[in-house]
Amino acid sequence: MALALIILAAGLGTRMNSTRPKVLHRLAGAPLLHHAMDAARALQADRVVVVAGHGADAVEAAARAHTPDAITVRQEPQLGTAHAVLAARAALAGFDGDAVVLYGDTPFIRPETLRAMLAARRAGAHAVAFLGFETAEPGRYGRLIMAGDRLIRIVEAKDATPAELAVTFCNSGVVAADAATLMTLAASVGNDNAAGEYYLTDIVAIAAARGQSATAIACDAAETVGVDSRAGLARAEAAFQARARADAMAAGVTLIAPETVFLAHDTAIGRDSVIGPHVVFGPGVSLGEDVEIRPFCHLEGCTIESGARIGPHARLRPGAAIATGARIGNFVEVKASRVGAGAAVGHLSYVGDSDIGAGSNIGAGTVTCNYDGFAKHRTEIGADVFVGSGSMLVAPVRLGKGAMIAAGSTITDEVPDDALAFGRARQTNRPGLAARLRARLRAAAGRRD
Ligand code: UD1
Ligand code: MG
Repeated sequence: MALALIILAAGLGTRMNSTRPKVLHRLAGAPLLHHAMDAARALQADRVVVVAGHGADAVEAAARAHTPDAITVRQEPQLGTAHAVLAARAALAGFDGDAVVLYGDTPFIRPETLRAMLAARRAGAHAVAFLGFETAEPGRYGRLIMAGDRLIRIVEAKDATPAELAVTFCNSGVVAADAATLMTLAASVGNDNAAGEYYLTDIVAIAAARGQSATAIACDAAETVGVDSRAGLARAEAAFQARARADAMAAGVTLIAPETVFLAHDTAIGRDSVIGPHVVFGPGVSLGEDVEIRPFCHLEGCTIESGARIGPHARLRPGAAIATGARIGNFVEVKASRVGAGAAVGHLSYVGDSDIGAGSNIGAGTVTCNYDGFAKHRTEIGADVFVGSGSMLVAPVRLGKGAMIAAGSTITDEVPDDALAFGRARQTNRPGLAARLRARLRAAAGRRD
């Protein structure tokens, strides 16, 4: 059966108090919208429609960044969730299959849950299936009024009677229906309610009036958590991190102090790797097996092969590729560079736009001078090169394999294989001159011994 996903992302998110649309606020390094779209990817949806409104240009760009062939439609003005679904009508014209409606601000719905909804709808021959959850604090959620496994209607908290408010089975907002039926039902929704909005939830009563049935299945309340405020975003982040840390440990990764390690939505860590305290993973990091990340490292957009050792206090930026057994030490920054197998950059260095061959050693305080104020240039370092401490490698420049660079050099020209380069002024010593100079300076300052 073909499947379409409709992701509602037109709302402003007033309580975020932000100029940025709510669905573009980040959770675990990715916009909330991408978390919702991940469900579509997992279900291999045939069509993905994102309904944008507030900040539509940015929301549409983010949607395409996740799924290049996602269809984006605009809902202007925003008159409610049924009105939002109808904005996707043209995009689904002629689509023969199921449609699932998700919210762009609800990041944790599992694909398995969506599959269970689709199966429940089909098994009971229901027109519509909603996703509900039990909560002790139903607050302002819509209440699902059930009779056995039949969903009779949904009442929004604003419109509920005291008896209905006591119901604890709540609407997550996720709906599954045959795509054409969904649009027909949504088109019949009116706005005669406390908020004056077109409520998607009204499709249950409309279906019933037409002799069509609805059902609801329950999922864990943790899946239906939506983000409405900065505090809610922080709670969602904490929930994500707790789960991601537990998953990493279950997969054979040691987290010495799990609550101090922050993972991204796509962090991949191989078995037997050890992550020290206070390590932050940005998006796009992949670690092989048996990698050690010592405390206080920041990693983003990089790959680290098995057996490498990083930190403490290292920063790996996008495009850093650290080969097996290599070592990156304290206060070293690496960007868009490959560090070859067994190579070492031990202390206080900047390595950018570089290629460092296997087994090379980069001395403390070495800087690849990669930027001239206009363009970036590459530094090529062969295998088994020794770069003395405090060297400036002015790119573009190439150091041949087996070359040695004298400490304190400024290297501007190619160094041939196995050559020793001195890129500094020759030292001269003037006997006794320091003592004489000191005496003269002291006299000038009017001081005595
Ligand atoms: C909705 C449900 C409620 C449910 C709750 C769960 C309705 C009428 N109510 O209420 O039963 O318990 O979600 O969180 O559906 N949106 C648009 N365009 C609009 C309006 C909303 O795209 O015109 C989007 C929002 O950006 C948001 C989602 O739809 O992602 C839900 O809208 P929201 O206003 O948060 O609905 P709730 O009042 O929370
Ligand atoms: Mg809401």
